[in-house]
Amino acid sequence: MRVRVLGSAAGGGFPQWNCNCRNCDGLRRGTVRAQARTQSSIAVSGDAGAWILFNASPDVLRQVQDFPELQPGRALRDTAIAAIVLIDAQIDHTTGLYMLREHRSRWPVWTTAQVREDLNTGNPLFRVLGHYCGVDWHEVPLAGMFEIPAVPGVRLAAVPLTSNAPPYSPHRDRPQPGDNIGVSLIAAATGRRLFYAPGLGVMEPEVWAAMEQADCVLVDGTLWTDDEMIRLGASAKTSRAMGHLPQSGEGGMLEWLARLPSRTRKVLIHINNTNPILDEDSPERAELDARGVELAFDGMEIEL
Ligand code: MLT
Ligand code: MN
Ligand code: ZN
Repeated sequence: MRVRVLGSAAGGGFPQWNCNCRNCDGLRRGTVRAQARTQSSIAVSGDAGAWILFNASPDVLRQVQDFPELQPGRALRDTAIAAIVLIDAQIDHTTGLYMLREHRSRWPVWTTAQVREDLNTGNPLFRVLGHYCGVDWHEVPLAGMFEIPAVPGVRLAAVPLTSNAPPYSPHRDRPQPGDNIGVSLIAAATGRRLFYAPGLGVMEPEVWAAMEQADCVLVDGTLWTDDEMIRLGASAKTSRAMGHLPQSGEGGMLEWLARLPSRTRKVLIHINNTNPILDEDSPERAELDARGVELAFDGMEIEL
């Protein structure tokens, strides 16, 4: 099983178009040593040449161009993306579907029933796509394993995450299981597992069990501190209120990662442009290095 990071940044990307925080400004000016990143997405293959796209980010066209294997060139109109899984209905994970509207047949799209509802109502992307290629919807079960027939060699299992539905959701602030999920990806050939959760706000027992079982965790790296956006004046919300466990502090992601077995590969993804870990010379980045925690980057590959 191959996992390819297409976009490792949170919503907004890095640098964000209107942002002059230390990282965004420093990257533009060349005064901060850091790597630009596109918005949150990964692709997964069972090695048979067919890929599952996890989340369709607003940067999807560039991400496809930057990964030539997604264009096998077998026909006038072609793609190696055989199915799309959306882990929530957020803008940064779904709007790329508009950019993929020229698909030759209905897109096989896998989501929970809750995400489907949001994408038919509050943000009616599925209904709009119905005027183009259309969507062939499949339900992601909230318990047990499932497979996507067009992508052999990969087994999947979703775990519901306590977070919040997007602002346009009919059930915003009335969270329901299925608004957000984490996904275990199991290589059929080897039994090795990756746990993917770019938005993880509360470490519930089921989530922790999935992390403990994984050979590699690819998890929420959005913000370093809970009040990072408040202190910057960029938002009124804490990291936890946005459904993202901060890395530092008591009960933060780094404490959890330290409890995993040493053989577990630990990688942060969905990194917000304000996060000091993006600065390769920052003490926060040095702390990650010391703890053996990696930072996902666009183009990173993980083999399982
Ligand atoms: C999130 O991850 O919390 C959202 O994607 C934020 C956003 O809409 O950019
Ligand atoms: Mn996001
Ligand atoms: Zn910024």
